[in-house]
Amino acid sequence: MTHVLRSRAEPPKVKLVTQVWGPIQSLMAARRNILEIIPMAATRQPIVSGRTGNVNWHMVMQPKALGRILNENLDTYPKSDVTKNILKPAIGESLFIAEGAHWRWQRRAVSPVFTHRNIANLAPIMSAAADAACVRFSTSTGAVDVYEEMVAATFDVISNVTFSGTDAMDSASVHHAINRYIDQTARVSLFDIIGIPTWVPRISRLFQTSAMKRMKQVADTAIKTRKRLGAKPIPDLLDLLLEGEDPETKRQMNLAELRDNLLTFIVAGHETTALTLSWAVYLCAFDEEVQDKLRAEAQSALQGRVATAKDCDALPYTEQVIKEALRLYPPAAFISRTAQADDVLCGCKIKRKDTVMLPIYALHRHHDLWQNPDQFDPERFADGYRPERYSYLPFGDGPRICIGPQFAMIEAKIILASLISRFKFQRIAERDPKPVMVLTLRPQGGVPLKVTRA
Ligand code: HEM
Repeated sequence: MTHVLRSRAEPPKVKLVTQVWGPIQSLMAARRNILEIIPMAATRQPIVSGRTGNVNWHMVMQPKALGRILNENLDTYPKSDVTKNILKPAIGESLFIAEGAHWRWQRRAVSPVFTHRNIANLAPIMSAAADAACVRFSTSTGAVDVYEEMVAATFDVISNVTFSGTDAMDSASVHHAINRYIDQTARVSLFDIIGIPTWVPRISRLFQTSAMKRMKQVADTAIKTRKRLGAKPIPDLLDLLLEGEDPETKRQMNLAELRDNLLTFIVAGHETTALTLSWAVYLCAFDEEVQDKLRAEAQSALQGRVATAKDCDALPYTEQVIKEALRLYPPAAFISRTAQADDVLCGCKIKRKDTVMLPIYALHRHHDLWQNPDQFDPERFADGYRPERYSYLPFGDGPRICIGPQFAMIEAKIILASLISRFKFQRIAERDPKPVMVLTLRPQGGVPLKVTRA
């Protein structure tokens, strides 16, 4: 907290809870917007504990305790049953949800895929997606749903770095399958949080079977075809994953493991980046001064071109805006773990089986950690400012930290700078997005903005 922030209006935020709620009220609120179960106190206290149904839960916002959960005492806090129940039907025992040895070897095998060099090689695909988005914006008039456009742009990227060139992927139907799955499954997650046993069948699970089957078939065909045809001249994520092996055991992934991890990249990487971009563009419309400054940087760096990986170092303010968007609207706004042993966090007793929640949304707006936490100010991240460790967690931290931050940041920078250099975005009265958590933090009602040429 080094610089003095100027006072300004606040962009939309979630209405946090100020009264004590019973289980039914909490359940109803959470079905509406899971972030609404976060008490206001979570933005001022280190820990807030409670009991819902027969489950004790703790929301942890103190950086030191978060370090204990995510790093020092990782084995006590594996990903929660909630997370696993929601995601397992879609992405199997892949990197995102595996634990212990099965997670470790996959992480070792997958890490080299995401080196800076490999990502930079894939950046032309990101520039092409940015270019296509610019073409779409230039032919549309009046209000444009920027969220829909950003979902399309990041889907172009993720589908072209996974299954492209095999003709096996019908992108529209896979896209539909992912959305249907997330929509129908995530809404019931509170049933898991309050501890209804995992064997109770949930109606939503029945909906997604055919969509998931279709997605897996498409992925399997793409992998088999690529194995037959060999790698592309510039290896994409599928090629790199096919080559990957655990350096310690030399183990390589079988077909199911390859497929589950590729689908993980799609589920974990596509919508999260689209949300980051959507909120960033919305915030630029919210604060036109920021937008003008961003445009000046982008125009001077790009000179009318679409951005490439080589431009990224010349776009520091673009990076600040993206980091601030990730602070105010972290796509993974709520992470949860299930304690496997008794522990103490912030002086509070944690019992085995307690649910430990990491409300990243509240952490990023905590009054002890951020000055004017609800205000939008990219200057917070000026001059490479790095917040105190564990106080800013858009990508998590510790061994289970996201594998794709560099991928996401390069993609977001290329797309945001390209768009802002060419277009002006303005808010539309009464149509500001409302942040709603459905597995990720989404803008309810999309992000309709007036788009004109800059
Ligand atoms: C702005 C975009 C992104 C955000 C905000 C984001 C956020 C996160 C977070 C918070 C976690 C940790 C979850 C936890 O600890 O419970 C995570 C894990 C993960 N993310 Fe991302 N992510 C993004 C982009 C990506 C991309 C582009 C990819 C891949 C192409 C990706 C793949 C993964 C994987 C595989 C994991 C699991 C890692 C492990 O457990 O070893 N993410 N992400």
